[in-house]
Amino acid sequence: MSERQEQVRQTSQKPDFSVVPNAMSNVKRVIGVMSGKGGVGKSLVTAMLATLMNRRGYRTAVLDADITGPSIPKIFGVEQNKAEAIEQGIVPVRTKSGIAVMSINFLLENPTDPVVWRGPLIAGAIRQFWSDVVWGNVNYMFVDLPPGTGDAPLTIFQSLPVNGIVIVTSPQALVSMIVSKAVKMAQMMNVPIIGVVENMSYFTCPDCGKQTNIFGESHIQDAAAKYGIDLVSRLPLDPRISALTDQGLIEEFDEDWLTVFADRLEVMEG
Ligand SMILES: Nc1ncnc2c1ncn2[C@@H]1O[C@H](COP(=O)(O)OP(=O)(O)O)[C@@H](O)[C@H]1O
Ligand SMILES: [Mg+2]
Repeated sequence: MSERQEQVRQTSQKPDFSVVPNAMSNVKRVIGVMSGKGGVGKSLVTAMLATLMNRRGYRTAVLDADITGPSIPKIFGVEQNKAEAIEQGIVPVRTKSGIAVMSINFLLENPTDPVVWRGPLIAGAIRQFWSDVVWGNVNYMFVDLPPGTGDAPLTIFQSLPVNGIVIVTSPQALVSMIVSKAVKMAQMMNVPIIGVVENMSYFTCPDCGKQTNIFGESHIQDAAAKYGIDLVSRLPLDPRISALTDQGLIEEFDEDWLTVFADRLEVMEG
């Protein structure tokens, strides 16, 4: 057994949700958004799911656990904000539509400073985002996990009571392998997979409406079916999306690509 497998075995045998939430927090459902690698749109999907649930009237939060590559503040256009500390803990920053967000950026003096910490320090920061942030009452908290299926996401599953996982992939990625890794990790951690999002899946010509699979035919349905995942969405590569994320206006997106995910989350127990 490799060191990694051994570690996973130990942690799965002894699930440790010992990180106590802040006394002022009551978080009903925690959804982890996971990807096989960076740059596939994990933060985008996190932000869009949070926006959808917030629009439906639920108290919504985003915990940016991608400590070395935090992009949630920029997507929501709050990257210049600083988190305020009160006696009870750290107060999350509110987005324009009222989503509560915590990111390492809000604690750095300069948001462009690189975070060059090692694993244990990063894990400590994520735990503190759970224990020291005054989240208040939250119906849905979305966790933008660090990319991959290694140590960093593992730490989060050990520390936070994650209720479900959304997997984000791109069509170029070895989808089947990524899904299988995520499924294995989820099984070991006893967390259900809610569904898979294939981002940058196709491009629709703005002039003629023709849909092109830029990276070849999608295999996402097959990969999902193989692991018994019935919820799949495909997001197009769309310049309007990059414009909204660049301008920090993701809360204005107006597409129904992830509506089926919001419907599923709405019936989730919490
Ligand atoms: N479907 C899409 N259409 C256009 N641009 C996209 C799309 N998905 C992601 N992007 C852009 O790609 C970049 C990476 O996305 P991001 O969500 O930050 O990825 P990750 O969190 O997985 O690293 C961002 O600049 C984003 O605007
Ligand atoms: Mg990201």
